[in-house]
Amino acid sequence: MLEVRKLSKWFGGLAAVNELDLWVNRSEILGLIGPNGAGKTTFFNAVSGFYPPTSGQVLFDGQDISGLKAHDVASLGISRTFQASTLFMKLSVLDNVFTGYHMSYRTGLLKRIFRTPSARKEERELRERALEILEFVGMAPLKDDLAENLPHGYQRILGVAMALATGPRLLLLDEPATGMNPRETEVMIQLIRQIRDKGITIVLVEHDMRAVMNLCDRIVVLNFGQKIAEGKPEEIKKDKNVIEAYLGKEEAVANAA
Ligand SMILES: Nc1ncnc2c1ncn2[C@@H]1O[C@H](COP(=O)(O)OP(=O)(O)O)[C@@H](O)[C@H]1O
Ligand SMILES: [Mg+2]
Repeated sequence: MLEVRKLSKWFGGLAAVNELDLWVNRSEILGLIGPNGAGKTTFFNAVSGFYPPTSGQVLFDGQDISGLKAHDVASLGISRTFQASTLFMKLSVLDNVFTGYHMSYRTGLLKRIFRTPSARKEERELRERALEILEFVGMAPLKDDLAENLPHGYQRILGVAMALATGPRLLLLDEPATGMNPRETEVMIQLIRQIRDKGITIVLVEHDMRAVMNLCDRIVVLNFGQKIAEGKPEEIKKDKNVIEAYLGKEEAVANAA
């Protein structure tokens, strides 16, 4: 479904992503892991059109989407969440999902301002869709609450709901379980499974290894912008390069001893 070829993103003298070759199969959950600064978020930014890649190609369903703008990428069916919460804290839960839709497309704003009949019909339909999404993620009863009053776990789920608003076929999740307690993490794991069961393909960046090992069909490990390992969760757990990247070489040796 997604393939990147020799993808690089440079910031000044630093290659945050360095000649990366990677693919995502339709309907899988691909885990993308690696130490802080490995280039995971940069990869999401380059694929989803937030930054143009410095070089290399991004192919989605065989179509070259390298360098397309974020709203064009979204309209093709790729959506992403953010590592930090990007909610509208003073808006209701429902309005956040609704706004998630408009943010990704940035169209029809004039129509909305002038409240044409077609805009009103469209708005009604979008609200219904937003409500369906909230039902799907289990947040319908909270639809009128302000985002700022939600517990952290629900704020993160709302971020996912906003990403679902554009009806993606590929969803990029950037550390969805960050800051969650074990119970909240369990809810997020279940939600990610349900999203996949709807037929949405997922790339998951996550530090919670239990979540990653539980959910992912396949894992790619990045370090310094390069792929250092890929395979099934059981293989990745035992991979010497991966253990070293996470623990540092001396500790990895000491650990093995
Ligand atoms: N906008 C930016 N400007 C300059 N450097 C950046 C920018 N975004 C990321 N970087 C750098 O690129 C590297 C990879 O960062 P990032 O993709 O955020 O890693 P990860 O998500 O794996 O923790 C880091 O060294 C980071 O400091
Ligand atoms: Mg990151």
